[in-house]
This record gives sequence, C-alpha cells and structure tokens, in this order.
Amino acid sequence: MTAAGTGSSLPNAAPQLSADASARELVEARLEHLLATPAGVPPHLAAALRHALLAPSKRIRPLLVLHVSEPRAAEVTPALDLGCAVEMVHTASLILDDLPCMDDAQMRRQRPTTHMAFGQATAILAAIALLTQAFAVLGQLDGVSDSTKVRLAAELSAAVGGAGLVAGQELDVNGRDSIVAADGIERLNWLKTGVLFVAAARMGAMLRGLPEEEVEAVGLFASHLGLAFQTADDLLDRTATAGEAGKDVGKDGGKTTLVTLFGEQAAQLSYREHLAKAEAALAQTRITPEPLLTMMARLFDRREIRTP
Ligand code: IPE
Ligand code: IPE
Ligand code: MG
Ligand code: MG
Ligand code: MG
Repeated sequence: MTAAGTGSSLPNAAPQLSADASARELVEARLEHLLATPAGVPPHLAAALRHALLAPSKRIRPLLVLHVSEPRAAEVTPALDLGCAVEMVHTASLILDDLPCMDDAQMRRQRPTTHMAFGQATAILAAIALLTQAFAVLGQLDGVSDSTKVRLAAELSAAVGGAGLVAGQELDVNGRDSIVAADGIERLNWLKTGVLFVAAARMGAMLRGLPEEEVEAVGLFASHLGLAFQTADDLLDRTATAGEAGKDVGKDGGKTTLVTLFGEQAAQLSYREHLAKAEAALAQTRITPEPLLTMMARLFDRREIRTP
C-alpha cells in the first residue's frame, strides 16, 4: 500500500489512537494538561508558553511516538506524555529558529512568532522552559521503569544536543557556505529534522519494549520520513503562501537547499524517493502501518505539510 492510496481505506482497527486525527486531539489535550501543571510560572512567560505550544500544529512527532508505540488502553497516558515531551523539544526549536538572529520570522503556526508577541527575552526563556520541562515529563512517565526512562532521556538529549538538532541549526546559520553538494544538504536535513523524527520513533519503540534490532528498523523508517519532510518543507518555502504554510515563506532564498541548488523537480524527486524508502522500511517492522501511512498521505499527498 502506498501513502498516496491510504486516504479512505483504513481498516477498522482499535478506535482512538489508530485514527490519526483523534490521536492528535488526545495530544492537544495532554499538552494543555502538562502546561498547566507547573505552578509559579510568571503570567507573561505562561502566556508565551501557551502561545507557542498550543498553537495549531500537525503534531507529527507525538503522532510518531503514538503510532509506533501502539499503546494498550492502560499505556495511553505514558505514551501521550512521551509524545508531548518530544513536542515540547520541537516547539522550543521552532521558537529559537524564528528569532531575528536565526531565520528572523514573523509568523509561526498561524500566529505571530513568540518573540514578536512576547519579546525576545521571554521567547528565549520560553524555549528553555519547554526544553527543561520535556525532561521533567520523561522523568515522571507513569508505570515506566527507571531504566527505560534513562534510556529515553539519553535518546532525546542526544537528538536535540550539540551533535544533533542544535548542530543542524548551527550549520544552517553559520556553515551553509561550506555545503555545496547534495550529500552535505542531506546531512544538514538529517541534523535539523531527521534526528528528532528518528528519536520520536525510536522512543516509541523503546516504550513498547521492542528489541534493539527492531528499534533500529523503526529508526530507519523515520529517518527517511524526516529527510523527505525537510525537503518538502524547503519546497513549501518556495511554492506556498504564508497563509497556506501558517508561517513565513520565502526565507530560504539565500540558503543552500536541494531546491535552491538543484531545482524544484529534483527536490520533489528526492523527497518522493525518501518516502518510498520510508514505506519499505515500515513494512519491515511489526508496526501497524495504516495510521502512519494515513499521516504520510495527509502530509505529502494532500499538501497538508502546511499547518492545519
Ligand atoms: C517545522 O516542523 C520545522 C521543520 C522541521 C520543517 P513542522 O512542520 O512539523 O511544524 P508544526 O509542528 O506542524 O508547526
Ligand atoms: C528548521 O528548519 C528546523 C528546526 C526548527 C530544527 P526551517 O527553518 O526550514 O523550519 P521552518 O520552515 O522555519 O519551519
Ligand atoms: Mg531554520
Ligand atoms: Mg525557519
Ligand atoms: Mg523551512
């Protein structure tokens, strides 16, 4: 089955989490709950956190966690919390990505960027608060063993840290001139976006207790998905309006991407190849493919790579 062909042919799997849209609603509700939990957050900062985290988003990373972990009823809350932790890290990365010293963006998730609405100082502090809370959420996963929590925290911190997403953002801002070929761009896309997709999927597999070789197989699926996603996002920067994307577009003109270096057709070919590889890799795992294929169809075929 291909991502393009999954739209209306979902089998009657268990309700709730198997359906992509209802899983997203559960994520939204849980994010709201988790954000309300810490007491003593100053009102201006609390408003900034809500503004950034609860804005309209595709919630791809928590959906990856849920659709890979396929929790039974009693395991839904820790799986949701794990997804929310990844979403907090992702949202922190977006706040920082939008700052004037980074991409200097005005709009994000169909709202003014956090620094536009709350000022740069509060935006930076909100990103730090979200990053920090993500690890607190991991530490409190209900019914999960301490050894698994440690493993999950190591996975997430490696993905976001100085050799992961942060490295990608550093290269994006200061290392672009040295990137002149397709493999350099793929490495950048891997660091900026692929690592967190892979961490989300691998963490879902770890929560589920899959053996290491299956965790690896799930990671391979997510790495192709992440690479496809960043290239499709780079295309979106060229082809969508800000209204469609829910964020600034036309930001990548001066950057080296597959689109700016090789053109739109080559970029499209590349992301389609990665999508096909992602589907093939998914078929090698024990994960029920339909919810993930539905998500991929929604993202790529129906052009909902934009924020809903
Ligand atoms: C935006 O991620 C940053 C990229 C990796 C391109 P998403 O497109 O997943 O953003 P939201 O969460 O839906 O806003
Ligand atoms: C950013 O890539 C990826 C991260 C935030 C780590 P982009 O700069 O292309 O993301 P958008 O287009 O602003 O969402
Ligand atoms: Mg950027
Ligand atoms: Mg950006
Ligand atoms: Mg972009």
